[in-house]
Amino acid sequence: MAAFPRARKLAAANRGFLVRAVRFLAEQGIRQYLDLGTGIPTSPNVHDVARQVVPDARVASIDNDPIVIRRSQALRATVKGVIATHGDIRRPHEVLTDPAVTSLIDFAEPAACRRVPVAPQATGRPDCDPHPGRGRAEELTHE
Ligand SMILES: C[S@@+](CC[C@H](N)C(=O)[O-])C[C@H]1O[C@@H](n2cnc3c(N)ncnc32)[C@H](O)[C@@H]1O
Repeated sequence: MAAFPRARKLAAANRGFLVRAVRFLAEQGIRQYLDLGTGIPTSPNVHDVARQVVPDARVASIDNDPIVIRRSQALRATVKGVIATHGDIRRPHEVLTDPAVTSLIDFAEPAACRRVPVAPQATGRPDCDPHPGRGRAEELTHE
C-alpha cells in the first residue's frame, strides 16, 4: 500500500465496474462469459453477478497463474457451469480451442469476453472472437 497508495481505490473501482458491466451484459441476454485474466476469486465474481439476472449463465475463467487457477478450481468445484482453466491470453487461439472452454462456451451463440484489468501489452492481439459477426461483447478498462 505504501508503494501504491491508490491500490485500494482502484481495486474497489474495478470491482464496481465488473458489477455494472456484467449486470448490463446479462440484462442484454448474454448467457456466456469468458473471463480472461480472472485473478484470485473475490466477491462478487462474474458468475455471481451474471446469475442474479441469468440464473444459468456460464463462465469460463482463464488465467496464466497456476495459483489463481488452483484457488479458483477449489472454490468453484461444485458450481455447475463455471470453470477455471490455465491459459495465456497472448495465445488466443489456444484459449479459444481449449476443450475445457469449448465444452462450456458455445461460440455459435453470443458470448461476452472480459479482460479486466490485464495490461494491454499482456494481451497480444485483442480479438477474442473466433467467429466475428456472430455477436460478442467485450469489456475492457485501463488505467
Ligand atoms: C489484476 S488481476 C485481474 C483481476 C480480475 N480480472 C478482476 O476484474 O478483478 C490480473 C490477472 O491477469 C492475469 N494475467 C496477466 N497476464 C496474463 C496472460 N498473458 N494470460 C492470462 N492471464 C494473465 C494475472 O495472473 C492476474 O491474475
